[in-house]
Amino acid sequence: MSRRKLVAGNWKMNGLGASLAEFERIRQAAAAVTGADALICPPATLIAAFAGKGLAVGGQDCHAKAAGAHTGDLSAEMLRDAGASAAILGHSERRADHGETDSQVRAKAEAARRAGLLAIICVGETLAQREAGEAVAVVEGQLAGSLPEGATAEGVVVAYEPVWAIGTGRAATPADVREIHAVIRKALSARFGAEGDKIRILYGGSVKPENAAEIFAVPDVDGALVGGASLTAAQFLPILQAAA
Ligand code: PGA
Repeated sequence: MSRRKLVAGNWKMNGLGASLAEFERIRQAAAAVTGADALICPPATLIAAFAGKGLAVGGQDCHAKAAGAHTGDLSAEMLRDAGASAAILGHSERRADHGETDSQVRAKAEAARRAGLLAIICVGETLAQREAGEAVAVVEGQLAGSLPEGATAEGVVVAYEPVWAIGTGRAATPADVREIHAVIRKALSARFGAEGDKIRILYGGSVKPENAAEIFAVPDVDGALVGGASLTAAQFLPILQAAA
């Protein structure tokens, strides 16, 4: 099964209006790369400014409801309206900072589908869970709870992001990535049949120009979710090129 790779940039809570210039550099550089898909997920305040320029743009979260009395929240429909085509959901920072549960992530994924957004659903164990030998069970549990029924390759991407590898400079080893991606692939195929084989699985956690090629060579790695290294064209472009 050949799946087109996706390199998604997660800007997290970084970026002001002045960042449009760097986005523009990323957009121009990415336009020359045809062998893989690129996506930038800036803070929501910048989605409208970045969208519609030829590089796909996504949100970093959404509310499960379409509208209503939810101060400070944004719906999937609003992200779509602002020009987003995707949303990162259930990132470990949101699970930790906002107590997001698997069932909430699943409801958000259903909202993304309702609004026509690609849902990038994040899973991954903490260091304590890995050291306790629970990594596989944690990821399987998060997948079972966070993925919506009837997930399709067009609507859903899974991102495996071990929490201990995020922002630490210490990416998972190819062997660790291989093991968990195989577990995820098996779970996707068991639950969604042939469609599960088409769903892309990204790795995230300290992906850099230096390690991208090695990570992309691992079976069942269909791209990357990139944090820090997605903030500049100088770092993001070589990762995208490695995917292509
Ligand atoms: P990082 O973040 O690339 O800075 O480790 C990845 C992520 O949290 O999506």
